[in-house]
Amino acid sequence: MRSDVKSKPGHIGIIMDGNGRWATKRLLPRVAGHRAGVKNITPVVSCALEYGVGCVTLFAFSTENKERPKDEVDSLIDLIRKRLKPMTRELIERGARVMFSGAREYFPSDVQGIMADVENENTDPNAQIVNIAINYSGRSEIIRACKIAAEKGDISANGIERELYTYGIPDPDMIIRTGGEKRLSNFLLYQAAYSELFFTDTLWPDFGESELSAMFEEYATRSRRFGRV
Ligand code: FPP
Repeated sequence: MRSDVKSKPGHIGIIMDGNGRWATKRLLPRVAGHRAGVKNITPVVSCALEYGVGCVTLFAFSTENKERPKDEVDSLIDLIRKRLKPMTRELIERGARVMFSGAREYFPSDVQGIMADVENENTDPNAQIVNIAINYSGRSEIIRACKIAAEKGDISANGIERELYTYGIPDPDMIIRTGGEKRLSNFLLYQAAYSELFFTDTLWPDFGESELSAMFEEYATRSRRFGRV
């Protein structure tokens, strides 16, 4: 779904990379970096919502992250268990609606229950959205959507888009990746067709309002042609 061309992005995606290196630099365990990363989510997302962004999609846990050592995966799941509600409370109080993209059935039932509770806190279809990609893989999302579309006998762009987790949300205008790598790493592969990409060396726990504002300013100067002249 193409969003209108505007100087402000309607939807931004954030690949929150660099938590592990942030911790290692401080001689801390990697989980300390993830904890610092979680703390940084509410202020950065609040800043984006205040700027007027309609949806922020956060890459919180990729399908591939499950291949990390068991203790790191367990601590990431535990962080979601313990921090998801406090982390989203302020955003929901500001009027945002939280949703999730990804294969949530992987998570223990108590974590799935927390996700459902958070989603049910605000169901206003007109609210700004905080979309948390969790056990998410762009390729798996596309394959899943194609399978359902085929079962329904509608393998058209509309038929496939209807089955994406993000159905109803305009495609991301901006995708930001912190932590210095310059790749999408299986994030929003279908939806990112015409996204403007922003990369920074700043590690996620250190990424803040001033850098985000500078990116918004740069976004406003980019010429988006969507393949046209
Ligand atoms: C990348 O850093 C970050 C992740 C793999 C996970 C990001 C997750 C969070 C910030 C927590 C999500 C929790 C909730 C409650 C939504 P990295 O470990 O790959 O860092 P590195 O590249 O420096 O090793």
